[in-house]
Amino acid sequence: MHTYSPQIPASLVTALRAAERVAVLTGSGISAESGVPTFREAQTGLWVQYDPQQLATPEAFKNNPRLVWEWYAWRRELVTKAKPNPGHLALVHLEPMVPELSLITQNIDGLHQRAGSQGVIELHGNITRTRCSIDGEPVESWNETGEIPPRCPRCGGYLRPDVVWFGEMLPETALMTAIEIAERCDIFFSIGTSAVVQPAASLPLNAKRQGAILVEINPDETPLTPLVTYSLSGQAGDILHRLVQIASIR
Ligand code: OAD
Repeated sequence: MHTYSPQIPASLVTALRAAERVAVLTGSGISAESGVPTFREAQTGLWVQYDPQQLATPEAFKNNPRLVWEWYAWRRELVTKAKPNPGHLALVHLEPMVPELSLITQNIDGLHQRAGSQGVIELHGNITRTRCSIDGEPVESWNETGEIPPRCPRCGGYLRPDVVWFGEMLPETALMTAIEIAERCDIFFSIGTSAVVQPAASLPLNAKRQGAILVEINPDETPLTPLVTYSLSGQAGDILHRLVQIASIR
């Protein structure tokens, strides 16, 4: 007989083993254990005086493109130095254990992909990619003239990170796919997200409406907590690692 940690309910392990379709939505909390600050966390160094919610907007880029570019350059450097943690890796290990695992992320850090997750659905883009701010087309390389932001080699417009800012539309295909996944899954995990930013925050509610088991992994309560079937309070790396390990032992 196996003994389960009190934080991993046996009934959840049973449900996970029986599930046909598992959906996972992650937020910046899953990367916290990799040393990447969460979105709303206090910023450090030079950036302490700025509110991320004000920098991640088209208006901020219009008013001060240099500031916004430099902020993303700083975050890009943090992300490049960071490594996937046991939370990202546990989701990689979960993939072959269930018939269908869909991973939807609000994160722009690419750490799920670097951990080895397949087919990650990125709702908010990816900080490691760059696009033209005029036509939105991806740009792989450009001349470093010292101008910040650099210019698009095709049209001369400013380049910008390929991320979604407040007030912008999410990539349509990614969003439609995420909604379908939420509506078809047996279990929906909401991991490391404050569950306040729409439309991502509606995905667990869609899943619940269709009868899915809802699981939240977060050290803090969120608006979703009162609605979930299982609230696993703690660090994603620790809880996911143990959950996947227990579920893999038959
Ligand atoms: P937030 O910064 O809003 O929330 C991070 C969540 O992670 C919080 O609820 C923390 O309690 C939780 N957390 C912290 N450490 C954790 C850990 N070790 N394990 C598990 N959870 C932990 O970040 P998001 O919910 O990702 O979008 O924010 C959503 C979106 O808001 C971002 O993608 C960004 C922003 O608008 C855009 O930029 C469009």
